[in-house]
Amino acid sequence: MDYPTLIKKQHESFIKFIYASVMVKEEDVRHKLNDIALFKYRHMVWVMQDAVNKNAKFNMDFDYDEIAKIKVKEEDELIEVLKDDLNQNIALYEGIDEPTINRLRSDDEFFLEEMNFFDVEGEITAFDEHKELPGIELDEESKTALVFFLMEETFKEYELITIYSYLKVHTNIAVASCAFTDLAYDSIYHLKRFADLAAQMGVLTLPRPIPHEKYENIGIVEFLKENIEEEMDAEKQCLILAEKIGDKYLKDFLLFISRQEVYHGELLQRALEALKNS
Ligand SMILES: [Fe+2]
Ligand SMILES: [Fe+2]
Repeated sequence: MDYPTLIKKQHESFIKFIYASVMVKEEDVRHKLNDIALFKYRHMVWVMQDAVNKNAKFNMDFDYDEIAKIKVKEEDELIEVLKDDLNQNIALYEGIDEPTINRLRSDDEFFLEEMNFFDVEGEITAFDEHKELPGIELDEESKTALVFFLMEETFKEYELITIYSYLKVHTNIAVASCAFTDLAYDSIYHLKRFADLAAQMGVLTLPRPIPHEKYENIGIVEFLKENIEEEMDAEKQCLILAEKIGDKYLKDFLLFISRQEVYHGELLQRALEALKNS
């Protein structure tokens, strides 16, 4: 089985679907695209786990041009791009009869069928840089700070999801593995919320592949210590922006995220202890 290609395709699908879920306007379609994104994330991790169990090498690269296919002008075009993505995946499973791939095939075939019922016809404004947040008045300074924050943080969250997922499948210490799973899912939530705000303001930016040295052959204890710092920095960035933002809802949202970042530090600390004691 070609694990690297299978993983790369699941990875690209996850990125396409999670970004697409904030690009369309219709609530039901957004919700379903987000569900599919979460399944594509799980598909990716399952195949990664299988690859590790079979000692097959892989990395977390993806093809930027492939994910950039979602940068279209109309919602109905976007749905066609996503259907094409699932079709590419299904073609890749051909001739394979094995539990994980059978599950992926079954899921993708159903998602494809479900997508035929999506009724969308709006224009996509997620990339048009209009820089207004519907229903919220922001002064120029807060707006600039928010746009900068969203661009930086969506990428950082993507990077963390990728690294935590890679670490999760490469550790056999249960406490650490669970911590990485929780951290990855919290980061997916953060990514989704930040990408949603960015899309509403027309400043959505797609991620770039991560340099291998960020996750391959890293000393895990060193990495965890550094990441505790990173999580504390994420907390600080949220607090700094919350101070600048005049809007109460946005401020409360940022404070809520900042407290989650504090807990991320705690989860990493627990993973660190577990690894030290193993
Ligand atoms: Fe976060
Ligand atoms: Fe975090």
